[in-house]
Amino acid sequence: MMTNLATVLNEARKGKYAVGSFNVYNYETVRGVIESGQEMNLPTIVAFGENYLVNMTVEEISALVRTMASKVNVPIVLHLDHCKSYANIVKAIRAGFTSVMFDGSHLPYEENIRQTAEIVKIAHAVGVSVEAELGALAKGEFSNEEDAEQIYTNPAEAKRFVDETGVDALAVSIGTVHGMYKGTPRIDVGILEQIAAVVDIPLVLHGGSGTPEDVVKTCIRTGICKINVNTEISVYTVDKVQELLAAKKCHLSEISLREVGYVKDVVKKYMTMFKNA
Ligand code: 13P
Repeated sequence: MMTNLATVLNEARKGKYAVGSFNVYNYETVRGVIESGQEMNLPTIVAFGENYLVNMTVEEISALVRTMASKVNVPIVLHLDHCKSYANIVKAIRAGFTSVMFDGSHLPYEENIRQTAEIVKIAHAVGVSVEAELGALAKGEFSNEEDAEQIYTNPAEAKRFVDETGVDALAVSIGTVHGMYKGTPRIDVGILEQIAAVVDIPLVLHGGSGTPEDVVKTCIRTGICKINVNTEISVYTVDKVQELLAAKKCHLSEISLREVGYVKDVVKKYMTMFKNA
């Protein structure tokens, strides 16, 4: 069944757990994520990033996710991840996404507030949730995201931003990176504590791949209700497919089925980690 982001995150906040948000780009990833949610009996966020519009259109991904979601009895959110374009946000809402992330983190603060508030107005008019981000994550290894300078979220700015925009969830930058970590992660839970003390909505952690389990659990206890995972799904699946093909020549249909299984290995590992902090 389909639902919006605010519904699942407000429940998560009350229950002190986090909901996994897993990036998809094709049939195999969508099926792997939704089957994992069904088998683990957990609400699941299927995230599709603007930079994967070269792989699928918003109409195609929405039709696929809605068809699969109608056959499971756990809540499924179809979320537009990291979107800078106003036009793509509107297209995704029209195509049936139940949540959008407007990423105005590159904009000057006041302009980010202005544009985000505008998007909240149109999204909320049709029951769609909005996530925004303040600060920026650096890029680690094997990520498909843009490179950026690490900017930690400022707690006072976060409070004013949430008050003035009306967003449903806020992504914070506390030292996680997009991609696999190059060295030891330097995650500042103190900043998260300061943000959680002044911001009264669910908080989001981007850069889930490779984040140590103890840090993840501390973050969940401190107010993180949604954790994004992308790179590890890709790295693990590609490694396994390479192993498979080194051992034997496979039919393409078999590779597709194996990929679904590899995606599920990673997604279920993180779902288990996030469900009880
Ligand atoms: P990772 O690629 O580090 O898992 O981060 C995913 C993410 O934050 C997508 O928005």
